[in-house]
Amino acid sequence: MPVRNTTARWGSIAQLFHWVIVALIITQFVLANIASNLPLGLAKLAMLARHKSVGITILGLAVLRLLWRWANPTPELPNTLKPHERVLANVTHATLYALLFAMPITGWLMSSARNFPVSWFNLVQLPDLVAPSRPLYEALHTTHAVLAWILIATAVLHVLAALKHHFVLKDDTLRRMLPFTSSR
Ligand code: HEM
Ligand code: HEM
Repeated sequence: MPVRNTTARWGSIAQLFHWVIVALIITQFVLANIASNLPLGLAKLAMLARHKSVGITILGLAVLRLLWRWANPTPELPNTLKPHERVLANVTHATLYALLFAMPITGWLMSSARNFPVSWFNLVQLPDLVAPSRPLYEALHTTHAVLAWILIATAVLHVLAALKHHFVLKDDTLRRMLPFTSSR
């Protein structure tokens, strides 16, 4: 399987970025959910610390993913797409990329505003981005939660589109993002 993208298929590195980030995002929802059901205490803080570290990992991977995308050819969208479907696909992908940055950055800002330091798995201490402020924390908390819902809605649309390509249109769109497959 080629490492680099071609204009017809995603290479193994782009696929690895895609699927590792999907797995980490699912992890984020699970960790946030577990944390929100725990009473205030050490267990909750430990769960949130894990959520923050995984979130910072996603931020780093999103930067590397975009750099890799720019350094590679990008597979073209199927030429069977109507103009409005082309726009919808591009807007959905751009929204997902934007959220890969906006989710971790609002989380990091929120933690700084709450005066809770952020570290990456206790290995790297990250700087505070803003001074402590209760109203700012509350605004960022709401923003982080609303963005999480927008992420869910956009990802559902994205998954439905991938499934439609595979099962209804029977084209290569899903297969070319999957390892161990070949394009027709
Ligand atoms: C893609 C990355 C991320 C996703 C998908 C994500 C998702 C979520 C979700 C769904 C919640 C629950 C929101 C609610 O209360 O309804 C949450 C809470 C939280 N997130 Fe994230 N998050 C991400 C990254 C981060 C990062 C990088 C940080 C900090 C560095 C962070 C800090 C927090 C904190 C502190 C809370 C709990 C807020 C509270 O209840 O006081 N998140 N996150
Ligand atoms: C939170 C979950 C997800 C995020 C954030 C995400 C993000 C993205 C992004 C940003 C792209 C655009 C790639 C580019 O143009 O550089 C993409 C492509 C793609 N994604 Fe996802 N994705 C997610 C989940 C999924 C799932 C679950 C599936 C499968 C059912 C899927 C299937 C695909 C496929 C097939 C492509 C390639 C589209 C093409 O070749 O034009 N994604 N994804």
